[in-house]
Amino acid sequence: MNKTEIDNLIKQTDIVSLVSKYVKLEKQGKNYKGLCPFHNEKSPSFFVSPEKNLFNCFGCHTIGGPIEFIKKIENVEFPEALRMLCEFNGVKYTNSNYKPDPNEIYYKIMGTAKEFYNKFLLNDVSSTNALNYLKSRGITDEIINDFEIGLAPNNYDTIYKLLTDMNYLEYDIADCGLIDMGDNNKYHDLFVNRIMFPIKDERNNTLGFSARIYIKDPNQPKYINSRDTKIYRKSQVLFNLNLAKSAITKKNRIILHEGQMDVIASYKSDLKEAICSLGTAIGDNQVKLIAKYTKNIIIAFDGDKAGIESSKKTINLFKKYGFNVHLVLLPDGKDPDEYVAMYGTDSYREYFENNIIDEVEYLYRVTLLNKNLNDKNEFNKVKKEIFNIIHSLNSQIEEEKYLRRFSEFLNSSYDAVLNDYNKLVNNKNHGEVNIVRPINLKKDFNREIELRLIYYGMKSKKKALMIDNEIRNALDVFSSGSQSLWISLVYSYYEDHDEFDEKVFLNGISDEAFKQYTILNEVLGKSINKDFNDEDLDSCIEKIKDMKAEMKNMILHEKNLTIDDDTERSRNLDMMFKNKKSREKHKNN
Ligand code: CTP
Ligand code: MN
Repeated sequence: MNKTEIDNLIKQTDIVSLVSKYVKLEKQGKNYKGLCPFHNEKSPSFFVSPEKNLFNCFGCHTIGGPIEFIKKIENVEFPEALRMLCEFNGVKYTNSNYKPDPNEIYYKIMGTAKEFYNKFLLNDVSSTNALNYLKSRGITDEIINDFEIGLAPNNYDTIYKLLTDMNYLEYDIADCGLIDMGDNNKYHDLFVNRIMFPIKDERNNTLGFSARIYIKDPNQPKYINSRDTKIYRKSQVLFNLNLAKSAITKKNRIILHEGQMDVIASYKSDLKEAICSLGTAIGDNQVKLIAKYTKNIIIAFDGDKAGIESSKKTINLFKKYGFNVHLVLLPDGKDPDEYVAMYGTDSYREYFENNIIDEVEYLYRVTLLNKNLNDKNEFNKVKKEIFNIIHSLNSQIEEEKYLRRFSEFLNSSYDAVLNDYNKLVNNKNHGEVNIVRPINLKKDFNREIELRLIYYGMKSKKKALMIDNEIRNALDVFSSGSQSLWISLVYSYYEDHDEFDEKVFLNGISDEAFKQYTILNEVLGKSINKDFNDEDLDSCIEKIKDMKAEMKNMILHEKNLTIDDDTERSRNLDMMFKNKKSREKHKNN
């Protein structure tokens, strides 16, 4: 499709009915309003204008046309959003670069198998025991439908026959990991007499299965998972991401569990943003996948020893990628599914929401859990671990808080504990610290320069546009706070105003930008007017450009670690520029 065709497609789109697929809209004057799908809110600040063909949220300041809406709500890039918009309008998508997906055949095979297993569970007379088992585990018909849970029949050629009868090729079916060649040179089904949990990608394609035994048989593994295939890579897939993604975007957080029964337990409890990996510890690729949606993770693994150990590893993995990490520690070694079975969904949700703790708090608690502190060796080990955790805080106030708590716990004086602590901290070989700090590409001295530039931008529109022109490509070195202030000023305020008027400006900005404005006044307060001049402005611009160059270098060096705030920031900025362009376009029309 060329530019004109795309523009026409956008023009012909009924944005109200597009948005209505996801948001309940109500007419208000010329516009429609509803609850914003991009942030949590109780009263609507999300507006759709059919006249301007735009949506605009006054709460989170997300704005754009049909393509931006699809990109944001489906979390896809431009080409895919364009394809979906074509589909919505019933227009044929003809991208000259477009190639049919070579994996289409596997998606079809897996989709067919999934539907078959699901119908078999729901309709076949032989499925009574499986249905009873599911019921006994609190899996309702609604859950069976939502997750499309199924049952593999108790014989070795059902799927083989079904799919070959439909003219699928044996080796394609084998490539999906559904059948295997036996010693007799004949194919046989791999999933037999098991409850089938489909594992899907973000677009709802079935990639594999996790198959649970439902009769007692000590000789068989509890779960059999699909092997890796052309479409299923267990290190890259997350169970339930397909259903969870809108809740993840809306709540801007994700919950990570150990098993799919736990994910279902959360789902039932209206914690729909829960996911898990399958038969493997979570790895880098899965973290990167999550980072596409949110940087806020809540780890809620089993409360037993194994769950705690893997939580510790998982904390570090997410910190490495700059996530805000929180955890929920369940009591008595329980997993979420057991908790729900015992106390019900309401009490689980309540426990969950009220017991979200940061990683230091978590490490502190689990280090003291079930320890025999009367044993001298054990006591020394625990003490050292606790001190290391406290030392990682890097804040005296926080350190003191935990040291006091520890002294109370030990029934010992604060001074004694502090004394021991200082001994350990001052000893160079005090052992490893458990906590990984996020990679920080920015330096603090940068902050004042950013604020100075914004201050100059507030002096006049002309200056602001000049500065923006100079630093636009380097704007991603700004801290996210400064970015939001700059964007409010240049891309929003100066769009409609020619003079800077503090009152008017502050009236129209987000809470975050307002906070940044307060900080600006605080930081610059004393020096304002004294040493602010054109020369200083030029030097600030140069410094920001230097920072950008330095950052680029660092990214090249740390190529493996580039999924961090900065990439996310560049993406946000990208979106802003596009929005600005589309606004300009509408202005000219
Ligand atoms: N798992 C697996 N193979 C096994 C056991 C477990 O692949 N033999 C995976 C499954 O994805 C499972 C997760 O590891 O969901 C967590 O294992 P576990 O805690 O033992 O199982 P639960 O989630 O408690 O499973 P259930 O409640 O069904 O017993
Ligand atoms: Mn369980």
